[in-house]
Formats: sequence, C-alpha cells, structure tokens
Amino acid sequence: MQNDEIPPLGGWSEAELDQAFAAVAREVEEWASGLRSAEDVEQFRLHWLGRKQGRLKAISDAWLKSAPAEAKKQIGQRFNTLKAEIERRLELAGAGSAGNGLDAEAIDVTLPGTRRRLGAEHPLIRTWNEIVAVFQRMGYSVGVGPEVETDYYNFESLNFPPGHPARDTQDTLVIAGQERKPLRDRLLMRTHTSPVQIRTMEQQPPPVRIIIPGKVHRNDAADATHYPIFHQVEGLCVDTNITFGDLKGTLDAAMKAFFGSSVKTRFFPSFFPFTEPSADVQISCPFCGGTGCRKCKHSGWIELLGCGMVDPAVFGFVSQKQPLYDPSRISGFAFGMGIDRIAMMKYGIGDIGLLYSGDLRFLEQFA
Ligand code: PHE
Repeated sequence: MQNDEIPPLGGWSEAELDQAFAAVAREVEEWASGLRSAEDVEQFRLHWLGRKQGRLKAISDAWLKSAPAEAKKQIGQRFNTLKAEIERRLELAGAGSAGNGLDAEAIDVTLPGTRRRLGAEHPLIRTWNEIVAVFQRMGYSVGVGPEVETDYYNFESLNFPPGHPARDTQDTLVIAGQERKPLRDRLLMRTHTSPVQIRTMEQQPPPVRIIIPGKVHRNDAADATHYPIFHQVEGLCVDTNITFGDLKGTLDAAMKAFFGSSVKTRFFPSFFPFTEPSADVQISCPFCGGTGCRKCKHSGWIELLGCGMVDPAVFGFVSQKQPLYDPSRISGFAFGMGIDRIAMMKYGIGDIGLLYSGDLRFLEQFA
C-alpha cells in the first residue's frame, strides 16, 4: 500500500480508533512475519519508520491533522503503542538476521553437519607402525636420522672403504656439486637406514636397543618390485655379551609376533661390510604354512631381512667419539628389512608403484 493511499478515519470514537489502528497493526504483523534477510529488515524499517517517507509518520500526519482536538490524545497514545510494536518487531528480526550478519534462512540447526571424510592409514605406514610396535614391546626405542647423508655415515663408518666394491651394490643418488669436498663430507641420499646406527651410538653410550624406520633412496629404475624411494626398518642392539643366539632369538620372536606364532625362521650366511658374521633370514611362508604357494614362489620360504653381528671395525669408528664402544668389552647385532616388500606381501600388492601413486581407488581398499 502506498503512503498516499492512507484510509481516512471513520470517526473519533474509541471503537473506531481501535479498529483503524488494528488494521494497521495487522499490516505490520503480516509484513514482519515475512522478514528473512538483513535487507528485508532494513526495508521494513524504512517503510514504517523512515523519517521522511515512513508510513507511520504519514498516517500520523493524516489522522492527526483531520482529528478534533479531544481525539488527538487518544490517537497519539495509539500511535505510541503501534510504534513500540514496530520497534519490537525490528528488534526480534534483527536478532535473527541483521544482528548476527547471517541470513535467518541460511541457518537450519536441524540439518546434518558437513561430514568430514575420515582418512585411513596408508598400507605402508600401517606396516611400518606394526613392525616398530613389535620391537617397542621388546624394549626398543625409536630412532631417526637425516635422509640427506654424508658419505662418512652412509658408507665409510659402516666399513665401506672408499672404492670398495660393496658401494656399487647400493646404486647411490649423490647430491650435485660436492666434488670439491673431501669424500667423507660429500652429500648423498641415504641408501639404507644403517647410518642411523652410527649416529645413535655417537649420541649415547652403550647399552643401545633401537629401532629405526625410515625412507631410503636408490638409483633404481621403477618396475613392479623396484622404486627409487623405499623404506627400511633397521634394528641395533649393543650391550655386554650380546651373541648371535640373541640375534636369532630376537628376530625369531619378532617374526612370530608380526606374522603369527606358527612362523619359523632360518638363517643363511651372507655378507654386509658392517656385520660379521652376516646372515640373510628367511621365514616359513605365513600364507601357505610352508607347503608352497604363489606368494612364496612355491618354495615354502620367503627371504625377509639381512642381519649380523656388528663388525668390530664399526665400533672402531664410533669409539672415536664414544670410547665406551670398545669392541673388546661390548658386542651387538643389527638387522634391516624392507617395509615396502613386507607390506606388498602382507596385502597382496603386485606393484610397488601403487604405494606411491596416491591413487584413491587403490588406497580406499585399506580404509
Ligand atoms: N643396510 C642393509 C641393506 O640395506 C641391511 C642390513 C641392515 C644388513 C643391518 C645387516 C644389518 O641392505
């Protein structure tokens, strides 16, 4: 209704005034109940209370002008009531919309919230955690070291002398621009977690029981079983009177804890520059129980890790910084295994690249 369409008052009796004001009050009420947004509220306010063109002012002007002096007080009182009602409505609407800056219609507290999709542990990380947990329960603590290593920690202190052919087995990725440094200081991507053995012993006197999970790098072309990045778990135990029997008992117990108590282990002679004697460890196939299946290539056994007694030459390097690593007084064993291979075996993953692909179709299978 336009302001110029103000209905004239029918008469000045209280009943007639009540009726006229009730009609306006209904109009206010109807409009106020439809207020949704901050803009709605502002329009409502301007329409009714606007100083120049407000409808309330227009009605008041029109009705008061034509009223006899006796009726003016009655009309004035009713205008005050009406104005108070409009202001109350504004306040209510403002609290729901303009007041908090949000549209009243945008908030429906009964709607379900936006669900966050829960992530799942990556199969590699899950395997990593499970292996670490097995050794933590045996009293080992967790150690870490840098992925960018020096030649000294990755090779020399582990008894790989410069030019030793065993270095060639590691397909090392070297950092560019290191040629001017002495060989021992040149940087490379660590090819195994074994350098953390040395770093740990340099930091603490014996005894040591430490488990070292981590990422390693080799210059391998990617195929179904190789990737330039992979992961190892390294173990090191050093104390007085540590024997090869301790090594066998520890690894046997760990393999049973990880794969199941019916799994058996067997040890074969091997070679690593930093252990002497060295061994490769096989476990009886946890999938077929040793009778032969695809996973164990029908041999009943799976080769899983390398290990050995810490070579006295390694203690020799460490004792330059920690003299308590005296090979005539202490001994120790170390072992290392590939996490990726174990995860692939456990979950039946045929291509190592899947672990690094970020492909959700692959990863969702582990959720
Ligand atoms: N570092 C060795 C490798 O990467 C594994 C190993 C660790 C062997 C500890 C013996 C003792 O092949």
